[in-house]
Amino acid sequence: MKRIAVLTSGGDAPGMNAAIRAVVRTGIDKGYEIFGVRHGFQGLTYGELFQMGPRDVGGIIQQGGTVLGSARCLEFKTLEGQLKAVRVIHQNEIDGVIVIGGNGSQTGAYELSKHNVPVVGISSTIDNDLYGFDITIGVDTALNIALEAIDRLKITASSHNRAFLVEVMGRNCGYLALTAAIAGGAEMAVLPETETDPEVVGENIRQAYEKGKAHAIVVVAEGASYDAEKLNDYFKTHKESLGFDVRMVILGHVQRGGAPSAFDRILGSRLGAAAIEQLSIGKSGVVVGLVNGKINSLPHADIVGVKKELDPQLINLARVLDK
Ligand code: F6P
Repeated sequence: MKRIAVLTSGGDAPGMNAAIRAVVRTGIDKGYEIFGVRHGFQGLTYGELFQMGPRDVGGIIQQGGTVLGSARCLEFKTLEGQLKAVRVIHQNEIDGVIVIGGNGSQTGAYELSKHNVPVVGISSTIDNDLYGFDITIGVDTALNIALEAIDRLKITASSHNRAFLVEVMGRNCGYLALTAAIAGGAEMAVLPETETDPEVVGENIRQAYEKGKAHAIVVVAEGASYDAEKLNDYFKTHKESLGFDVRMVILGHVQRGGAPSAFDRILGSRLGAAAIEQLSIGKSGVVVGLVNGKINSLPHADIVGVKKELDPQLINLARVLDK
């Protein structure tokens, strides 16, 4: 193996740059030539490759986003698109590809590995929905951004005696909402994993009011059956029983834009190095990540498309703490 290409795919996640930097520097240290691919699988399909040296990744560890750019590439989902990418890989004499991304990206990486291209994935998504891994690159930073917003909202909520519905990202996974609710001292988390009854949400808000609390915070996962917008609409016609006036905030992409936390910089650095290590020992079709607190690799075949369940202990903890 001589030449390794690295790409970032899907939603950007703070800490991806640390992973790119580690791939470039540990790869060169081991004697490989490293090529960056612009805009994920799209760039791989259209030959947007360029060689990277150690200085090209200087000053990026503290930046959110990805210096390589990212994309959601529909063409790569087709066999034709994949074969185009395989041609580009052969033309550029690339011996291995590192794919930094979440569920969709690792599905693409798995497909690529089936075309006899050595591929190693790096688990990276703010959603924390990759089966088998404790926590992925970007989760810690996104969670801390959500917390900062919740802490701020509590201040204005207390001044006006209001309830806030705070919607956080996470696609179909409630991890960010649940942990933001626990760490943010919220009254309730509304999750995709459990059926939402808007009356129960209303009841929680009313109880907070009756206990004499100055505010109520409900953290809502974007994938919940009642998202913040639906709940807000519901409370427009059921506000008399709540006590508090209700406002809604959707954090959305703000959560992805922050400077990576120390945790994400270190995780990104460790996983970048681990991906190079895996390719150097001839591994392919695996994803590196944190498994039971240790850096490890899991086969794409075992994790792609498998649903990651929320820890029931965390769900229970949120219920007990929201008094
Ligand atoms: O997967 C990361 C994520 O931020 C999800 O939480 C969210 O549902 C989605 O990406 C948003 O996608 P896009 O950036 O394409 O709008």
